[in-house]
Amino acid sequence: MDIPRKILTVFGTRPEAIKLFPLVHALEADERFVSRVCVSGQHRGMLDQVLEIAGVTPHHDLDLMQPDQTLDRLTARLLTGIGEVLDTEKPDYVVVQGDTATAMCGALAAYYRKIPVAHVEAGLRSGNIHHPWPEEVNRKVIGSLAALHFAPTETAAEALRRENVDLAGVHVTGNTVIDALHWVTARIGERPELAADLAELEQRFVGRRIIGMTSHRRESFGDGMRNIADAVKRLAARDDVAVVFPVHLNPNVRKVMNDALAGLGNVALIEPLDYPHFARLLDISTLMLTDSGGVQEEAPALGKPVLVMRETTERPEGVEAGTAKLVGTDTGAIVRECNRLLDDKTAYAKMAQAHNPFGDGKATQRIVELLAC
Ligand code: UD1
Ligand code: UDP
Repeated sequence: MDIPRKILTVFGTRPEAIKLFPLVHALEADERFVSRVCVSGQHRGMLDQVLEIAGVTPHHDLDLMQPDQTLDRLTARLLTGIGEVLDTEKPDYVVVQGDTATAMCGALAAYYRKIPVAHVEAGLRSGNIHHPWPEEVNRKVIGSLAALHFAPTETAAEALRRENVDLAGVHVTGNTVIDALHWVTARIGERPELAADLAELEQRFVGRRIIGMTSHRRESFGDGMRNIADAVKRLAARDDVAVVFPVHLNPNVRKVMNDALAGLGNVALIEPLDYPHFARLLDISTLMLTDSGGVQEEAPALGKPVLVMRETTERPEGVEAGTAKLVGTDTGAIVRECNRLLDDKTAYAKMAQAHNPFGDGKATQRIVELLAC
């Protein structure tokens, strides 16, 4: 029998954990692999929420989160911390996902040791190194050194080809976020109590249409965040809507949102939801107002219109399909587009088409077979 291939999966934040737990499950169940997991702890509470629901116990936890840590300090600690784990584990492959500091440092530390890197969600490009910041550069760095690029869509694969990466390493797999969404939906189907804690809010806002909301982008800190908060305040003046906003734990988000929005009766500022409860929020929302990457992928799959509070998106597929719309961080534009969806049935119906450009729920399977080659 062949010697199993040792795969070290490295991640550190909530979205990476969501998009990688299906792969960790699959690698653990497959005797062609020895699966090891290193979490950086770049996020703490928001990472642990995912580890718990997915039943993933890391072999290494660097526990690196510090309150409001600078990018320099985070990056330096990630690079040395992950490097030490690589020296201990000596894996055949390092798997990273997306574009966070953890993903970039995981890939760089592997490259420094000549360990091949497999990049999940490869090839996303906005074409602007300041939007999203610093993610666009993180993903370009990973793209320049990875051996295997698992592009979620043909558009992403094409972006990699334009950068002259080795074509043999580029594979269109779909995005594992859809696999994760299917998994969590099935778990909720088996055990509805996993997503039952929103019942009180649902009761409080009965008769109102719910706007599900998230916001955390660094490039929006300052004026952008204040504009977003002003938009929510104006939307909350309507007596037929309620905004449910699980607030990211980044203090730069929390302070602005709490200062501006606490005390508004139909705005629920709540703690970050675990994944089943967030899936429930997607389900009960009329529309999503977000600057999140993952939410731009999940909402169209569920037929929920998404208004994207960013200047550009590296996920043009939703916009092209008409299920997502860029609204930037201008207060007037956000309010106008929300009101249009709330008041114009035809405009709403056009955007509320369930559409799945990001995957068919089988991305993990394809990635596993490619890692086994
Ligand atoms: C990070 C990623 C971003 C990703 C986002 C997902 C980088 C540079 N940024 O941004 O690409 O879209 O995660 O959410 O990699 N905090 C907590 N508890 C937590 C998580 C964060 O208290 O569980 C607070 C801490 O004060 C921490 C701060 O938030 O220092 C910022 O966290 P960090 O991971 O550096 O950046 P994010 O803005 O979360
Ligand atoms: N999410 C969650 N709880 C929340 C908010 C978001 O589980 O309270 C999930 C969401 O379903 C998506 C992911 O977290 O899969 C998105 O994470 P985030 O917006 O923090 O990061 P991004 O995708 O922008 O990198």
